[in-house]
Amino acid sequence: MDKIIVKGGNKLQGRIPIAGAKNACLTLMPAALLTAEPLTLTNAPRLSDIRTMTELLESLGCEVARLQDGQVLAMGCKQITNHTAEYDIVRKMRASILVLGPMLARDGHATVSLPGGCAIGARPVDLHLKALEAMGAEIELRDGYVHAKVDGRLKGAEFEFPVVSVGATENALMAATLAEGTTVLKNAAREPEIVDLADCLIAMGAKIEGAETGTITIHGVEKLHGATHRVVTDRIELGTYMLAPVMTGGSVELIGGRRDLVGAFADKLEEAGVEVEETEDGLRVTRNGAGLKPLHVVTEPYPGFPTDLQAQMMAMLMLADGESVLEEKIFENRFMHAPELQRMGANIVVRGGTAHVHGGTPLKGAKVMATDLRASVSLILAGLAAEGETSVSRVYHLDRGYENVVEKLSACGADIKRVDE
Ligand code: UD1
Repeated sequence: MDKIIVKGGNKLQGRIPIAGAKNACLTLMPAALLTAEPLTLTNAPRLSDIRTMTELLESLGCEVARLQDGQVLAMGCKQITNHTAEYDIVRKMRASILVLGPMLARDGHATVSLPGGCAIGARPVDLHLKALEAMGAEIELRDGYVHAKVDGRLKGAEFEFPVVSVGATENALMAATLAEGTTVLKNAAREPEIVDLADCLIAMGAKIEGAETGTITIHGVEKLHGATHRVVTDRIELGTYMLAPVMTGGSVELIGGRRDLVGAFADKLEEAGVEVEETEDGLRVTRNGAGLKPLHVVTEPYPGFPTDLQAQMMAMLMLADGESVLEEKIFENRFMHAPELQRMGANIVVRGGTAHVHGGTPLKGAKVMATDLRASVSLILAGLAAEGETSVSRVYHLDRGYENVVEKLSACGADIKRVDE
């Protein structure tokens, strides 16, 4: 198994291109199930999660061609030949549940394995199912699978999510495009990935209003057609690399970056004393040796501070002058990176959903282990700032969400390599 070795201390200077969003691509791909015509995605990221979704769609009867080294995905689903998403694929990736709504809406039945537990908390799928039930689906849980069916078409309905859920909003939104009548989704997620999905569905002929507002109105149509859609920039990859020059000092331009995608995060960087400026090609982040102020950060649904940048922010706050507080409000068990960061000399105290980070203790390279996707990259960020060598094992977590990490960081002067253990 591979590991990543980082030698800390180098200032970073240069440009990092930001890829298309993993989480947008993972919901845009199942949208191909909604139509018999081809759906082509450009600016797709090259990641193992995307390969898993490819495998899942192929198992259902779709054709998926990876063109231009995987940056273009040409999908065609003339017919869904198998309506069961098997446990062996679903267990690898929770986003597999996103095939449920499209298959049910198109053919009136679908069976999807329950995703099971996951490292960052219970992560149930009850809201996905409730929203589909509100549209007339009959759902039964049997043998670890969700069995869903509907007589004829789904029916437009009004549904209010009790908690904001990105995945449940995506499933319901896709299903509602082919329902009979109008659906109104209230307290819906409004992440940029939701807006991107709505834009793609509209290009496919769907009638959708308000995707960026939290109340989405969908007028169902009988059929959707093919389209070509460019995947939105990955705001989590963007935020992650915005931290690279903060960890080391220096200045890096993030190509394709957009401030509106990372508003709450960029505000926090500025509050800490980091410079963030918009450029013609993206965003530039600069830290010129000055100290960092401690912060109070609370994770929230968009447009609040994203939970997917919490681990990386913790790495930065280890360098701040004083005590910072990180409150995790989305997932109950998302501080597994804290003990690993402590191995590098960090002073972090976790109490329930709150982490107190006492910044300013010198960081030392160590052997650490990635525990999940975002945790893995927080260890690399910490390694950039630590004295000596940090080796990060279990990098398959990293491969799920970050393409060419080593190339992107070394192009800016980082001492980082990937080795076979
Ligand atoms: C998506 C992202 C993930 C991100 C998360 C929150 C993808 C592929 N993944 O995950 O990277 O961290 O949004 O921004 O896009 N919940 C329920 N019942 C449900 C569904 C969710 O109680 O049926 C709860 C969850 O346990 C969690 C909260 O709702 O506490 C938000 O989860 P959700 O927004 O659904 O996350 P995902 O869509 O799984």
